[in-house]
Amino acid sequence: MKIAIGADHGGYPLKADIIQVLAQAGHQPIDLGAYALDAGDDYPDFAEAVGKSLQTGQAERGIVICGSGVGASIAASKMKGIRAGVCHDTYSAHQGVEHDDMNVLCLGARIIGGELAIEIVLAFVNARFDPDERFQRRLNKVLQIEQSE
Ligand code: RB5
Repeated sequence: MKIAIGADHGGYPLKADIIQVLAQAGHQPIDLGAYALDAGDDYPDFAEAVGKSLQTGQAERGIVICGSGVGASIAASKMKGIRAGVCHDTYSAHQGVEHDDMNVLCLGARIIGGELAIEIVLAFVNARFDPDERFQRRLNKVLQIEQSE
């Protein structure tokens, strides 16, 4: 799977390990920066880059890492077609895909350690949307909200 990944300075320490794990698992990580630790960079820039890569079809899923994961999820979810969630446990990471069709995982590198982050990332990329009628119905309602904005 093609997976776009971006991180601001708060998330930068986790990004390289996650890219390595994704590649080892047979995925194609697309590194959208930051390419160096820069305390002056801004999480919306990376959330937008990841969101755009999904919107254009360059990537199927995205991962955005900031300090808490919160800013990344707020910014990414502003974009059409992007369903981003902060997940700091493996259950949310797979259930968010299975029930909610989450397509961008947001992580807070100041909140979780590297090993847990890797398990969460693998739970996210290994999960698939369950097209059960109730999940599709709820997703359609989310999409209607997006359309009406
Ligand atoms: C950056 O210092 C920090 O505010 C940002 O990474 C993130 O935590 C925002 O949600």
